[in-house]
Amino acid sequence: MTKQFIVQDPYFEKAKKLGYRARSAFKLLEIQEKYSVIQPKMNVLDVAAAPGSFLQVISKIIDLDHKAVGIDITKIDPNFGRPNIYLLQESIFEYEKIRIYLDSLSIGQFDLITSDIAPSTTGMSGVDQYRSVELNLAILDVAKVFLKKWGNLVLKVFVGEDVNDLMWALKENFIKVNRFKPKACRERSFEEYFICMGKKD
Ligand SMILES: C[S@@+](CC[C@H](N)C(=O)[O-])C[C@H]1O[C@@H](n2cnc3c(N)ncnc32)[C@H](O)[C@@H]1O
Repeated sequence: MTKQFIVQDPYFEKAKKLGYRARSAFKLLEIQEKYSVIQPKMNVLDVAAAPGSFLQVISKIIDLDHKAVGIDITKIDPNFGRPNIYLLQESIFEYEKIRIYLDSLSIGQFDLITSDIAPSTTGMSGVDQYRSVELNLAILDVAKVFLKKWGNLVLKVFVGEDVNDLMWALKENFIKVNRFKPKACRERSFEEYFICMGKKD
């Protein structure tokens, strides 16, 4: 991606103006407008949270008695100006370490899990989308334990031929799975968000 491209991106400019750490904020805002997944009385786990724009959106909606937890393999600047954001630098594949951390927060199960996870891209769409499916299956493993019954899961998926494996697994665990491509996604990207509503148990 060239610097010239970034400068011409209206969402990048808007994010800078409004103080969001990344343009991804607008994708979650569109998801929120359509599906109202975030509510004030919710504890929310955000996977792949760096640099933190989803957490900025989430923390403006949840009340201060509730918590937002961000996990990413990359370090996240903790200066959100909110006391109820907790951060863990870890890979989603490290289930045991994540479990120990989440147990230590005594939240129990979350009302909502969001994820904007993206593998390091290779430029080979088949490889990238396969890795995206693998990452999302690892998130589903966390959701099976840490998401409440009837809770919702928002996933970013690179759509390709392996997506049916993921969709099958999601439909096993959720009442309904909606596919949504926010306007803030770059037109040429093959990313979509899967809005999984109502965890079965
Ligand atoms: C598009 S960015 C997320 C942007 C974020 N939602 C925001 O609003 O600021 C994708 C993130 O996925 C993270 N990621 C990729 N592989 C990961 C893994 N195995 N475990 C945890 N995070 C991972 C990357 O470090 C990167 O921060």
